[in-house]
Amino acid sequence: MSDITKSGFSRRSILKSGAAVAAASTIPTGWAIAQAKPVKIGLMLPYSGTFAKLGENITFAIELLIAEKGGKLGGREIQIVKLDDESKPENAPQNADRLVKRDQVDVLIGTVHSGVQMGIHKVVKESGTLTIVPNAGNDVITRAECAKNVFRTSFTNWQSAYGMGLALGKKGVKKVAWVTWDYAAGNDMGAGFKEGLQKSGGQVVQELKLPFPQTTFQPLLAQIPGLNVDAVGAFFAGGAAVQFVKEYAAAAIKAPLCGPGFLTEGTLAAQGASAEGIETALHYGDGLDNPKNTAFRKAFNAKAGRDADVYAVQGYDAAQLLAVGLEAVKGKIEDEAGLYKAMRAAKIDSPRGPISISPSQNVVHNIYLRKATGGQNKVIGIAAENLADPGTGCKLT
Ligand code: PHB
Repeated sequence: MSDITKSGFSRRSILKSGAAVAAASTIPTGWAIAQAKPVKIGLMLPYSGTFAKLGENITFAIELLIAEKGGKLGGREIQIVKLDDESKPENAPQNADRLVKRDQVDVLIGTVHSGVQMGIHKVVKESGTLTIVPNAGNDVITRAECAKNVFRTSFTNWQSAYGMGLALGKKGVKKVAWVTWDYAAGNDMGAGFKEGLQKSGGQVVQELKLPFPQTTFQPLLAQIPGLNVDAVGAFFAGGAAVQFVKEYAAAAIKAPLCGPGFLTEGTLAAQGASAEGIETALHYGDGLDNPKNTAFRKAFNAKAGRDADVYAVQGYDAAQLLAVGLEAVKGKIEDEAGLYKAMRAAKIDSPRGPISISPSQNVVHNIYLRKATGGQNKVIGIAAENLADPGTGCKLT
C-alpha cells in the first residue's frame, strides 16, 4: 500500500518528525479556526439617560454569569463589545447595524427601551443574528413580528401589566386611572393592565400620558383628584420612576398608586418613604426564597457593589439561555438548528424561579404581587402562575 498521503507527503515521514507533527497540527483549518475564535457578543444597552442603571445592571449580570462559567460558554471564549444606545429609537437601526456589520457580532444582547428594540429587530430579522432581549417588553417582538433568531428572557409588557390589573380587580377596585409615557411600553402595558382589570371586574376610566423621556408630571398629577378614581396604575422606570413616585406622594393624592413593578424596582433607596406601601406586580421580588436567588444576590452585590434587581435577573438569564444553547452545540454557534432547538427547549433555574421559553420564544414565568416595605419589594402573593404571553400572530412552528 502506498505511504503517500493526498498532500504528497509520505505519512511515515510526517509521523517520524515531531516538529512536522507539531507544525501540521497548528495549521488551523475550517472548523478549527471557528472554534479558536471567541464568540463575540454585542451588548446594545442604555449606559446614559433615564435607563442607564438598568443597562448597567443587565451588563454586570451577563459578565457575572460568564465569569461563573470560567469565561467560556460551550467551551468557547467570550468577547464582549458594548454600545450605548442612549434609549434613542432614532439611532437604533444604525447602532444595531454597527454591531452586526462592522463589529460582526455572533450574538446581540439588547435592549431596554421598546422603541429601540424595534430598530434592532429590523436589522437582526434581516441579518439573522441571534438576538436575546434582556428587557424591552414590546409585545409585537414575540407576537406578529416574531423571528426564529430572536429570544426574550425578560417579559412582554402585557405579562407584567396584566397580572397587576387582575390582582387589583380581585381586591374589589372598580375605577382606575392609568398614567404613563406615550410609547410602545406604556401603551402595551396600558392594554394589558386594562385587560386584567376588566377580567376581574374593574375598569380604566382615564389614561394620562406624556412623551418619553419627559418628566413634567405636575400637569398630569393635578388632574387625578378630579377623576374620583379608587386607584392609579402607572408605568415609569429608572430615574423617572424615582421622580414620579416622589411627586405623587408629595401631591397627597388619596387614590393609592400601583403598577407593573418597574415603578419601584431598583429605585426604592432613592424613593425613600414616598414608596412605602406601594403594591406592584412583577416577575421578581425581594426575599424570593430559593437557593439560586440567594447565591445570585450575593454574587451580584459582590460584583456590582449594589443589590440585584429585576434587570440584573433578566441579564443573567439572557446569558444563562445563551449558555444552554452553546453548551448543547459544544460551542459550534454555526449549528443554528441545534442552537435554537436547545434554546427553545431550555428549562432554566432563574433567580426569579423556574422559567421556560414559549413557542413564540418569550419567557414563561410567575407574576408576583409585591408591597414596598422598609426599602424592599416584599413578595406578598402570586398574581399569575407560569404566565405565558399569548404570542398572538406568531408563526414559528
Ligand atoms: C420598555 O421600553 O419596554 C421598558 C423600559 C423599562 C422598563 C420596562 C419596559 O422598566
